[in-house]
Amino acid sequence: MGPVFDTVLRPAIVAASRSERIENASQRWPVTERVVRRFVPGESLDAAMTAVGDELDDGLAVTVDFLSEDTLDESQAEATVVAYLELLESMSSFRPASFGSLEVSLKLTALGLGLPEHGAKIAAENARRIVEAADSLGILVTVDAENHTTVDQRLTIVRSLRDDFPDTGTVLQACLRRTEDDCAEFASSGARIRLCKGAYAEPAAVAFTERRQVDDNYLRCLRTLMKGPGYPMVATHDPTMIDAATILAGEFGRTPDSWEHQMLYGIRVDEQRRLATTGARVRVYLPYGEQWYGYLVRRLAERPANLVFFLRALRG
Ligand code: FDA
Repeated sequence: MGPVFDTVLRPAIVAASRSERIENASQRWPVTERVVRRFVPGESLDAAMTAVGDELDDGLAVTVDFLSEDTLDESQAEATVVAYLELLESMSSFRPASFGSLEVSLKLTALGLGLPEHGAKIAAENARRIVEAADSLGILVTVDAENHTTVDQRLTIVRSLRDDFPDTGTVLQACLRRTEDDCAEFASSGARIRLCKGAYAEPAAVAFTERRQVDDNYLRCLRTLMKGPGYPMVATHDPTMIDAATILAGEFGRTPDSWEHQMLYGIRVDEQRRLATTGARVRVYLPYGEQWYGYLVRRLAERPANLVFFLRALRG
């Protein structure tokens, strides 16, 4: 399915993630519950907290994402802030063994970045409220990467947050041509940087379109992050990238507490546990909430096997 999946199906599936009609229909399919549970532990805060407890018990760290994106209404952005403040309160009841085990991930479009007026200012203020609250509770924050049109605004906001909260992390996507330069900048400033391949369909003008090119860029960026004084967060399920991270960490004399692996909830769960038993830090990205549709479609688009799983479930 390789090339056909990459050139035909993947763009079509990602396009479907923006279709409200398909979203509304799919939320009514009986199969939905089963498929969603594979990648999203639940819609409620309680379900998310149960999953957090399970991961911590297994010696893994977590980053929790309240699912919401592309907010075009200020009151919805405010509701997302309130949801994050509640999430932080709930997470603070856990007393994990090590500092840094608890983290939240957030999307700036969910905090108002796309609002027609003053979107960047509103998103920056909303993000700051969440980062301040998280900081006071000893919980870390990483700002997720969305499509390429939002990168400049996001990095400007993150630079400003880091002036006051230097632990604020963000994500760089190896599929983007600019990312090598962004890695050099953020690595030298000592930032916490999550390196991923990138989950959005991007135009060739700004992104590598061949898997091989993305992988090569991932390895170049990983080297830059591992070499620098920052904290690399190696977000991938790819065995080649995972092995490369371990080798590069050794080459640059990194201790196990100076970088980490990250994987998504429900994906390569055995590998997550195996890495943790080697003494490596492993963090699980744990999404929850009612707006799971866009997240789910990106997971289906990433990998033919995820799509096969979905189609099998459809057949019942
Ligand atoms: P890729 O999909 O290229 O697969 C490579 C290999 O990995 C496969 O051949 C297989 O061996 C293995 N593999 C992958 N999936 C598997 C599965 N389900 N089961 C078994 N093996 C599997 N993206 C983004 O744009 N913005 C963001 O903020 C984030 N945030 C983020 C956080 C975290 C913690 C992770 C892990 C990922 C993200 N992503 C993301 C998503 C990321 O960009 C990317 O789309 C996915 O991680 C898929 O790419 P991989 O690097 O895992 O490998």
